[in-house]
Amino acid sequence: MIVYAPVGMPLDHPALEPLYAEAAELDLAVVLHTLTVMPPYAPGGLDTWDNLWLQRSAAHPWCGMRNMAAMIGSGVMDRYPTLRLGTLEAGHGWLPFWMARLDEHAETIRAALPELGHKPSEYVTGGLYFQSIEIPEGTRSERAHISRVTVKVDGEELKIYRRSVPYGNVQEQGLYFVAFSADPTRYHLMLGRMFGSSGDGVHDRLTDFSKPVSGGLYFAPSLNDLNELVGLPRARIPGP
Ligand code: HEM
Repeated sequence: MIVYAPVGMPLDHPALEPLYAEAAELDLAVVLHTLTVMPPYAPGGLDTWDNLWLQRSAAHPWCGMRNMAAMIGSGVMDRYPTLRLGTLEAGHGWLPFWMARLDEHAETIRAALPELGHKPSEYVTGGLYFQSIEIPEGTRSERAHISRVTVKVDGEELKIYRRSVPYGNVQEQGLYFVAFSADPTRYHLMLGRMFGSSGDGVHDRLTDFSKPVSGGLYFAPSLNDLNELVGLPRARIPGP
């Protein structure tokens, strides 16, 4: 359950309490996702002189820090001891410093908080609090799909044109994946790296939880090749 409080409404407003109660009852996690350039604006998002770089760099993590502190400081994790909380897409590098600061201030500014059962850092490390780590902040796994399908030959990245459509019913869920390229070796290289046959012994993490069901490779000759076969003149490429 994603909670968005309108600007000016604190996350521990009594009007939101039924949501937390329901989430605990239904075993749903409450996740807080910060926004910067669209409502509900992150705190500071409106105070960054329309500078997207400042909004993303400063307002985004600050909103995550505020949301996380507001939820834990509200005592909601005491009132619903099975409730899972998550702070998404606001970075994570700040978490250790923030836990130490919240612990310190939960002592020194105790009067601003309800009686908490634990130190703020104990809720964070207690197994019910989650925070996402974005790829730019960490090292990308060599098994990540993007690592396996980003292939360079002679210093140049091999490009393909991709399209995929998800499908599903109650029995089966999947993805139709279609790719186009003037050069079929690109697929072979990528598929080899995905399925662990490219020689480095690594396979794509995607293949741990998805299974290829069928596949096909088609050659579509160019219009000029077809015209040449039947003796027609070269196709005119429409241009300006
Ligand atoms: C289970 C099937 C697959 C899934 C769910 C999947 C999913 C994805 C996703 C989510 C991305 C990132 C998209 C983005 O950030 O814009 C991606 C990128 C890509 N995928 Fe797949 N993919 C699948 C199969 C394949 C196959 C079979 C190939 C090649 C034969 C392939 C080649 C690529 C390439 C080249 C990219 C772009 C990498 C880059 O950003 O440089 N994918 N795929």
